[in-house]
This record gives sequence, C-alpha cells and structure tokens, in this order.
Amino acid sequence: MLNLTPVPIKIVDCYDDGENTRHYQFAIQETEQHLSPWLKAESGQFFMLCLPGVGEAPFTFTTLPNAQGNFRALVRRMGSVTDALFQCGVGDIIGARGPFGRGWPMERLLNQRILIVGGGCGIAPLASVINQLIDSQQFIQLEVVYAARNQAALMLNPERARWQHLIPIFNVVEDMAGLSDGEFYPGTATGILPKVLHTFGEQPDTVLLAGPEAMQTAAAEYLVAYGIDPKSIFLSIERRMHCAVGLCGHCYLNEKYVCSHGPTFSWAELLQYDIAC
Ligand SMILES: Cc1cc2nc3c(=O)[nH]c(=O)nc-3n(C[C@H](O)[C@H](O)[C@H](O)COP(=O)(O)OP(=O)(O)OC[C@H]3O[C@@H](n4cnc5c(N)ncnc54)[C@H](O)[C@@H]3O)c2cc1C
Ligand code: FES
Repeated sequence: MLNLTPVPIKIVDCYDDGENTRHYQFAIQETEQHLSPWLKAESGQFFMLCLPGVGEAPFTFTTLPNAQGNFRALVRRMGSVTDALFQCGVGDIIGARGPFGRGWPMERLLNQRILIVGGGCGIAPLASVINQLIDSQQFIQLEVVYAARNQAALMLNPERARWQHLIPIFNVVEDMAGLSDGEFYPGTATGILPKVLHTFGEQPDTVLLAGPEAMQTAAAEYLVAYGIDPKSIFLSIERRMHCAVGLCGHCYLNEKYVCSHGPTFSWAELLQYDIAC
C-alpha cells in the first residue's frame, strides 16, 4: 500500500541543539491501527514531515516511535519546510508520513566490532542505532567519531554526553576556539581515522557513515585502502525527495531511488551506481 497520506503529529517538546538546529519530540495523534507501521520503523529509515500549506521534507528518526507514538528528530533550519516548523510551538499539530526506505543493516551489527562516523547533522541518522546498540550491549566493540566545524555547530550534545560515559567517542572539531584539547580533537572526520583505526585494535567488521557526502566518500575510500571490504561500509545518502515511495524519480541515483532502495547503501553498491561528489 502506498503511504502518501500524512498522519497528524503533535509537537510535544523541542530545544535548540546546535547552530540553527532543534531537537524535536513528536507524538503521533492516531489510532492503534494507524500507529502500527510506525512501530516497525528501523534505525536509518526516514519520514516525510508535512507542514500544511508549505510542503514536505525528509528527516531521520533520532529515536524510533515508541508504543505511545512518541519519536524524536533533529532538524536543521534550511528553507521553507524547516522555517515553517521553527515557527510552530509545543502543542501545535503538523503531519508526517512514513516510515520509508532501507535502514542500517542491524542484523549485520550483532556481536561485531563497529565503527560509526558522523559529520555535522549526519549524527541524526546514527543516533538511534548508537542508542540501540548501547541498550542491547550486543556488540564486541563500538566506537564513534563525531565531527563538526566549530563549537556552535556541535549537535546532539546531551546524547553525546551520555554516550561518552559508555563507549569511546572521538569528538573532532575543525575550529577549536572555546573548546578544550582533552575533550575534543582538532581536525576532521577523515583526518582522525588513522588514529582511530590504530587504537581500535582489530579491524572493524562494519563501519557506518553519515554526513556530508564528500566526507562519507573520502572516509569510505580511506577505509577501503586500509583493508576494509566495501561491502562492510554503509553510508546514508541524501537526495531531494518528493514522493518518498519510488514514484516521482526526484531522488534518482543512477539506477536506484534513494527513497526506496536507500537511504542506506553499502559502499560496494555505491561504487556500482557511480556516485560522484
Ligand atoms: C533521507 C533523508 C534524511 C534526512 N534527514 C535529515 C535530518 O534528520 N535532519 C535534517 O536537518 N535534515 C535532514 N535531511 C535534509 C532535509 O530533508 C533537507 O534539508 C530539506 O531540504 C529541508 O527542507 P526545507 O524545505 O526546509 O529546505 P529547502 O527549501 O528544501 O532547501 C533549502 C536549501 O537547501 C538546498 N537543498 C536542500 N536539499 C538539497 C539536496 N538534497 N541537494 C542539494 N541542495 C539541497 C535547497 O536548494 C535550498 O537552497 C534529510 C534528507 C534526506 C534525503
Ligand atoms: S522521492 Fe520520488 S522516487 Fe524517490
């Protein structure tokens, strides 16, 4: 069944979390029957946020919908839809449809050595998988690299503070003004990879990447040169989306639709589709 009709969602909570970015909690205002597809949402999947009279845009879940229909998303203000969302307040009702797409390969992550690399807003699609892994403890090793331009651009600050107590996190910032050396590393996500891989011990079994496409591509190329199989590296790809269900072709990536075949792809797949940055 095509999922084209939005369900009403209420803005339950929101707070600023990084430059021009807010972390929202939404609650689906629907019956049990309408809630059921949302309860099957997977980490790395996305939904279309619908602002009546304005338009729609895709966003990932930072926490997946729970039995009460509550979920979270990190939203950076970019244009018409996000401007309209930022003008709404707690208690306002907007719309959403989903969940859509192929999420992270969770079954592949069980009892593995996992490296997760997120840049900027790219931490959003990784948040729920990091939480899921930490909560289940079903991994051998889990390390996270998070990169941002500067202090103001750091996102998911409360979540990263919690993770920091539980797993190794490399917070990397290009412009270190206002930040201390002990907590943050100067540089970029790809720049710190040699150090991270050196201290990782055995090679990671699976690597998850999300963030600016040029960063993901550079990181994937470095990881392959380091000896990691392109089939074990997964990226989250963003394209302009309209229908989100494989009909309109706006998200076309060579022979695939990012909305329905992605947004998660292995690097081996993307090499076939000739992704160019
Ligand atoms: C699968 C997926 C998941 C996403 N998850 C998140 C998320 O969790 N949090 C988040 O903040 N954002 C996320 N995004 C990005 C978000 O959907 C876009 O920023 C969206 O365009 C915002 O809508 P808008 O109407 O506010 O801005 P728009 O008016 O659509 O765009 C604002 C500006 O960005 C440019 N632009 C937007 N998208 C693209 C693109 N794909 N390629 C080139 N230029 C573009 C436009 O040309 C314009 O200049 C995701 C995108 C995808 C595809
Ligand atoms: S957004 Fe329409 S085909 Fe992907």
